[in-house]
Amino acid sequence: TSNCNAFRARILHFTDIPNPSDGTGFEYFEDGVLVVEQGRIRSLDSAANMAAQGFDLSQCQHFPDHLLMPGFIDSHIHSPQTDVIVSYGEQLLDWLNKFTFPNELKFSCFQHSEQKASEFLDILLENGTTSAMVFTTVFAQSTDALFKTAQQRNMRMMAGKVMMDRNAPEGLCDTPEQSERECRALIEKWHKVGRMRYALTPRFAPTSSPEQLAVAGRLYRDYPGLYLQTHLSENIKEVAWIKELFPQAKDYLDVYDQYGLLGTRSVFAHGIHLSDREVSRLAETGSGIAFCPTSNLFIGSGLMDMARLEDAGIPISVATDVGGGTSFSLLRTLAEAYKVLQLQEQNLNPLKGLYMATLGNARSLMLDGYIGNFETNKEADFVLLNLTPNRLQKARQAVASSLEDTLFALMMLGDEMNVDRTYIMGKLAFQRHGHNQGEMQW
Ligand code: GUN
Ligand code: FE
Repeated sequence: TSNCNAFRARILHFTDIPNPSDGTGFEYFEDGVLVVEQGRIRSLDSAANMAAQGFDLSQCQHFPDHLLMPGFIDSHIHSPQTDVIVSYGEQLLDWLNKFTFPNELKFSCFQHSEQKASEFLDILLENGTTSAMVFTTVFAQSTDALFKTAQQRNMRMMAGKVMMDRNAPEGLCDTPEQSERECRALIEKWHKVGRMRYALTPRFAPTSSPEQLAVAGRLYRDYPGLYLQTHLSENIKEVAWIKELFPQAKDYLDVYDQYGLLGTRSVFAHGIHLSDREVSRLAETGSGIAFCPTSNLFIGSGLMDMARLEDAGIPISVATDVGGGTSFSLLRTLAEAYKVLQLQEQNLNPLKGLYMATLGNARSLMLDGYIGNFETNKEADFVLLNLTPNRLQKARQAVASSLEDTLFALMMLGDEMNVDRTYIMGKLAFQRHGHNQGEMQW
């Protein structure tokens, strides 16, 4: 029935970092029931237990072949870069100048911004991504458009206007004063409104003057609960450029540190070419690194050393970084993460991977009070994954002998075609129409 708020499926979620060998840190129900009330999780249990407690299972929407999981969280992505995804043949600095900056100039038009923001969020939902931390453009109205369209979909979103006042085309530059004024206005309008949070967004140190970085630091101190997102140590030439631009800084991270931009709500994308000092300083301040494997491979930036950063105690999240990244799908992103780690003789267990894309990212982004798993009262953002949409996955599935095997096939071979439905606060927000419709049961 239409007011039905119970979902019966195979259900997986994480309660902590999963330990595959002793089965702790996650819960898996072969036949589970998730009950949602007013957009929040009310309960989760096996169908058998629910029935034994007198719950009428016929109330449930039943998806016996589907895996129900918390929605994916993307910790670093650029909303205006949908159209520059897979731009051919350049590394970071040339990629920015040749493809990214010219495209971002189009967002001076409000209509374009609104249409692209809407398309962007719909693509996230198609990919099972229910929350994200987003770079918009230097144009404040493009940030406004993103928040407005996110609010229409009731998605939990962190976003900010790009601060950029040098080393970019004139039409894409603001000034420290303009940044401060526009950021304050956006913060007043959107920060902590519903599920929206503001993230200060200096693009990266080369495109901000010291004065502008100081503005970012001041705003960060002025408003409680703000986030800060930027890029750090992605590319060798970028790191060399930092040395020229900020000769007085100890290293790349120190530039941000000098302006008060480090902390538990700060997310630095990439962090590939880091010194030991930078690693310990990130850890000491609780600053996070967003691991963007498809981007790091596609733009040829390098291999992030996850074991080194994790051992230091740095909060790590996993992110698509579209348009440097080549896919909106967190599943595809995890598959590339696996390969990046393989090249360094590190391993990514599928449970760990799926943990990262859900509760792990929620924790790294200080959102685990709201989302990330199916704890009672959390916001009910979740996905229904079809485990058998393509031949390869089907074949692999046939020989999979354990949950871990099945999840490994999903992680390595899966993509947005595995996402049949996406729910935001218990409401259906995306439904795939197509080849596997027949497999749905009610
Ligand atoms: N560094 C500065 N800007 C960008 C961007 O848009 N994408 C990536 N991947 N790196 C950046
Ligand atoms: Fe990025």
